[in-house]
Amino acid sequence: MPSGHTRRNFLLRSVASASIAPGMFAAEPQNCAGPIPSAPVPFTPDTAQPIQQRLPASTLSNADAARLRKAYAALRALAVSDPSDPRGWLQQGNKHCWQCGGGLDGQAGEEIHGGWLFLPWHRAFLYFHERILGKLIGDMSLRLAYWDWDNSQHRGAPPAWLSPNNLASNPLFDPNRSAVAGNQIPLQYVGPTAMNPIWGAPDFPTLGGQPGDQDGGNIENTVHGLVHIWCGDTTLQSQKADMGLLDTAAQDPLFFAHHGNIDRIWSVWNGSSSSHTNPSDPNWLNHTFNFWDENKRWVSIKVSDVLNMEQNLRYRYGPAASPLLLTGPGSSLKLAMEAQHILAIPEDVRKRVTSQAPSKLTTLRVEGLTLPAGASGVYTIVANKPQANAAAVAGTPNALGYIAIVPKTSKAAHMHNNLSVALNLTAHADLLKESGKLELTLAPLAGGASTPLSARNVYLVEH
Ligand code: C2O
Repeated sequence: MPSGHTRRNFLLRSVASASIAPGMFAAEPQNCAGPIPSAPVPFTPDTAQPIQQRLPASTLSNADAARLRKAYAALRALAVSDPSDPRGWLQQGNKHCWQCGGGLDGQAGEEIHGGWLFLPWHRAFLYFHERILGKLIGDMSLRLAYWDWDNSQHRGAPPAWLSPNNLASNPLFDPNRSAVAGNQIPLQYVGPTAMNPIWGAPDFPTLGGQPGDQDGGNIENTVHGLVHIWCGDTTLQSQKADMGLLDTAAQDPLFFAHHGNIDRIWSVWNGSSSSHTNPSDPNWLNHTFNFWDENKRWVSIKVSDVLNMEQNLRYRYGPAASPLLLTGPGSSLKLAMEAQHILAIPEDVRKRVTSQAPSKLTTLRVEGLTLPAGASGVYTIVANKPQANAAAVAGTPNALGYIAIVPKTSKAAHMHNNLSVALNLTAHADLLKESGKLELTLAPLAGGASTPLSARNVYLVEH
């Protein structure tokens, strides 16, 4: 069954009142296994294709928006004319569902969230999706667009995805979206305070996750999850389809623009310092994913195949506002912890952090953070106000950062046991004026009691 009454009634109402094919709407999938494949053929780069730019979604020309609309119209039409075609809109959404915990029946394929497969799997998913869209309109030069929500001017969903606000004339629209024209993601979640620890991530595990699926990286657990949840509920109080649940997220065309930006951030990070390298572990490089391609062939692609996106995947990212890039390895100091959540910062470091120039960046890298059982949604990480709820500390220096966990379905939280996050301490240096102790708690944004934040290790990193 679909989630709560509100959504169900909404769906029924929408289908009844709009002149849209019912196949255009789908509730949460019960089972999201795709068509049964035969043996995969190995990926080969389509070097006959020129390398084309993916452009910023918020400033697309009318012609580029029209071309993308035509392609999504074809993708949606295919889901109606042949629901079993693995390339159609709903099958694409279900492919993502299958790799992130499955649908309501809990049957699922390999988990690609919560660890170091997150970035390469989504890069490959976008590549095959882009090729399918191109094929459906007979234009293989088509490239996806990216929603650069980290640009302060572009914190609203891109206009072409919002209006016209009906599916009949805008296949980029999604009626299962809370975000409408005029809504903007609050700056604190996607602005420089949140982004600088990502741009300045000293190594791949900090940015993109550790081996396995139990310790996702900073990009996944902060901005990535936050934007998902915000699209489904702009108040961030609940996790709603489509974007706010992993089993339905890729049914919204905005998913692909959101992940285009995640993918771009990874590539900008790679290019911004010689120390920003990807893992060299063969277990990562040789890890294989399978996808249906634009010709309905089941293709296997390795992580190492997606690392050179220009040569192998034939795209690059077009212009975007330049981030504050902080490069270099930085120095990292393991902090002493009392009761797993009270940190002691040595006096000399405390003095340095409170007096340093604002262009410097100091982060707290929290590793192996454990969430309360069944946790999902947005949690404020609070320092030195152990009893305060999230609303009480919002906008104060005590609100040190956040984590955002997108649940698998409306019935099941994500599988995260541990995760990592990097908190921007520079922006909160005032906290350290009085003492070198930081007591960290997790406060759910939806309200309720805060709990001590428990972590395996915390490092203070000076970039
Ligand atoms: Cu596979 Cu943004 O989630």
